[in-house]
Amino acid sequence: MKALKIVGVVIGILLLLTGGGLAVGSALANKGQAAFAEGLTRSGYAGPVDGKVQSVAQSEPVIVTVSYTDNQGQSQVGQGAFAGGRPPQVGDTVSTYYSTSDPSQVVVISLPGPGDLSAIADILRTAAIVCLIVGSVVLLAGILGLALGKKQPAAVGRGPTYPAGPAQQPPAADMQRFTDFQLQVVEPPNPVRNLDNSLTSAQQSGKNFFAGNRPSDGVSLGFQIPGVQTAFSCNGCHELDPAEGEFGTSKNASFEGIIPQMFKIPHLRNMYTKVGMFGNAKVHAFDAPDSGQVGDQIRGFGFTNEGASPTIFHFITAIVFHPTLTSGFPLINPNNTRRQVEQFLLAFDTDLAPITGQQVTLNNANSSVVGGRITLFEQRANAAFTSKVLGGNVKEIELVAKVVQGGTSKGFLFNPGNSTFVPSGGGTALSDAQIRALANTAGQEVTFTAVPTGSGARIAAIK
Ligand code: HEC
Repeated sequence: MKALKIVGVVIGILLLLTGGGLAVGSALANKGQAAFAEGLTRSGYAGPVDGKVQSVAQSEPVIVTVSYTDNQGQSQVGQGAFAGGRPPQVGDTVSTYYSTSDPSQVVVISLPGPGDLSAIADILRTAAIVCLIVGSVVLLAGILGLALGKKQPAAVGRGPTYPAGPAQQPPAADMQRFTDFQLQVVEPPNPVRNLDNSLTSAQQSGKNFFAGNRPSDGVSLGFQIPGVQTAFSCNGCHELDPAEGEFGTSKNASFEGIIPQMFKIPHLRNMYTKVGMFGNAKVHAFDAPDSGQVGDQIRGFGFTNEGASPTIFHFITAIVFHPTLTSGFPLINPNNTRRQVEQFLLAFDTDLAPITGQQVTLNNANSSVVGGRITLFEQRANAAFTSKVLGGNVKEIELVAKVVQGGTSKGFLFNPGNSTFVPSGGGTALSDAQIRALANTAGQEVTFTAVPTGSGARIAAIK
């Protein structure tokens, strides 16, 4: 990097010198042919020679690469600013002046009629201005780079170092152990979803569109070709079937058009973890407008495999979901439905009921605050729930209560069948009122925990 900055400074100085020389040249051109040639020589340039245009960068200033034969008969390739009227095309023959000290530096001039020195003066003046501007910028950037570069502490920007040697794959047995571990990992309960597992009305409307009859994607023919499906609802691809362990993927792949490859259909139970990305520009594959500056990115990967969409709303304005008569989002007020679908996806089902993991402690002063939550725990411990990893048709949670009574730790597991708390290790079950009454004694707080179905007995046990 430092070498680049030094090159910047050198090129900057060279361009400034060239610009100065050209400016002199332009003044001299008015004084006659001989003086013109002399001025160019003085600024270190020889020419004109015929240059063949290799490439043209249509930026401002126009930079041209030419091949030419210098006055010593050497073949050279040079690059430099173009001055004159219309920029040349690749293959054109152009009037080329080259720096005698560095033949890769050229100035390409579109010569007007021969001998028209006043026009040449104009051209040289333009070239001079170009060189002076570019030179100043490059020089400044180079100097700034060097100055700022120096201030950086030596360690900043260095990546980790790895031991030398051939790359090694983990042994197959280690990979298997890792796979076995990873297959145990379960997505957490969705923190956006209501604790009683209900949907808000917006989420419910979103779900109705998600799983409804109207195809969101594809071509709706209006008739059926046997064995061929041409259009899908969201759920047609992103299948929600907790009994099968499917939370947004049918385990198929599809070609989406906006991503140039076949893609596995992703599950949708972790959508809420991806929010927080900065805004979006208007791009042709999406109907969503430019969001404008929305501030610094705080967190959030964004949506789709490469994180290109900042929000679900933006993603579902993709042209594949464009409202038409028979498919896509509704023709009337499509954004309203998009917002509802977004609400639903952020609250998407997971393998664990939303209340899983919640915990509350009842003491002799807070029953008005936590009492309702304990009642909710008891209800959810008796609410039907479907989850493949939890064993199929189960209850949402199991409810454990713990208390230290007269110096002895006790654990209870809630029995939803008769609403009693059964002591771990045997003994008389307590009613709901009895277990709450334990907390009336100072120092005898009761802690209630909503645990995953199947883990209750283990967690209630006192070791
Ligand atoms: C034809 C099958 C198909 C249909 C229909 C479909 N999707 Fe998708 N969806 C995909 C595929 C494939 C991807 C993965 C694209 C990628 O990541 O590049 C995807 C990605 C997504 C993502 C991003 C997921 C992530 O991990 O970031 C969301 C959100 C999504 N779809 C929502 C929807 C909604 C809402 C609908 C209905 C309006 C819908 N999809 C309809 C196939 C489909």
